[in-house]
Amino acid sequence: MITTDIEFIQECLTRGEIVGLPTETVYGLAANIFDEQAIARIFQTKNRPNSNPLIVHVPSYEHARDLVKFFPPKAEHLAKYFWPGSLTLILPKQAHVLDAVTASQPRVAIRIPNHPIALQLLEKLAFPLAAPSANPYNRISPTSAQQVDFYFPDIHTLDGGECTAGLESTILSFEEDEVVLLRHGAISVSDIERQVGRILNRTSHSESPNSPGRNKKHYSPICDLIVTYEPLFMLSAVQEKKVGILWYDEVKIESQKVHINRVLAPTSSLQEAARNLFKYLHQMEQMGLDLIIVERLPDQGLGRTINDRLERASVK
Ligand code: TXA
Ligand code: MG
Repeated sequence: MITTDIEFIQECLTRGEIVGLPTETVYGLAANIFDEQAIARIFQTKNRPNSNPLIVHVPSYEHARDLVKFFPPKAEHLAKYFWPGSLTLILPKQAHVLDAVTASQPRVAIRIPNHPIALQLLEKLAFPLAAPSANPYNRISPTSAQQVDFYFPDIHTLDGGECTAGLESTILSFEEDEVVLLRHGAISVSDIERQVGRILNRTSHSESPNSPGRNKKHYSPICDLIVTYEPLFMLSAVQEKKVGILWYDEVKIESQKVHINRVLAPTSSLQEAARNLFKYLHQMEQMGLDLIIVERLPDQGLGRTINDRLERASVK
């Protein structure tokens, strides 16, 4: 059920319900961080393993400070520069942050979303919100209230329009003086490095399976997906399949074999591509395709995040 009534959503959350929450990245499935039962319901509803911790959403830097022991200097600089925004920081948690939220880890993931309605709601509430992306485990993240409602028709979703970023937040942790990238996201590595210098990339380390979006398979449509610089070459290799092609900035060649062509970013803007990616993948998976072939994007800026998501979506 979709609503625009913020007070109603505030009441739902206060009595322990989980709700669909708009943010600028993707929609979240949100609950009171201090309500153990509501947190448990998030995991059940998403069919997500309890070992995979949740991101906490707060309305201000001061609220974030109340939940953590300290901000390392680089974390403080990044928070002050990018918040509200699509950057999640992993910081040492205070004792009152529930183990259920952090999956018993000593650190908590926090961000201030850059979305006027989410901020309005967070400011009204007496507690922060834990919110993973509002998709069943391993499915495509939703970028509209309609898409949340498609996945979870029984919960109330606050409509905040289409997400302006369209990709999940970038996740960083801190080790001594180092900044460590755990998940590519809506803020590019180059934008972060402009603030704090070189950062370490741990996005493909496999030793801790429950770390951010690092499960190899993730973000998947229900049909097969291939990402390639040569969609037409791939097309020539597949037989008798209902195929869709998702192009970067133009349809390079029309083919009778293709059921549908979509273009991510007619202006070649990577931001535009990011905004459309999950929306178009969701639309295409609903068409009953056997296969989506996606043209690989330039491997720079947000292109890296998009390619990362596509590679994970292509794992069977
Ligand atoms: O943009 C976003 O980040 C969205 C919106 C709703 O804020 N949220 C989101 O949440 O993408 P989720 O749960 O789908 O992905 C969060 C990732 C998970 O892979 C989780 O493992 C990681 O963050 N994470 C959360 N807390 C952590 C912690 N304490 N230590 C390490 N990783 C953590
Ligand atoms: Mg997710």
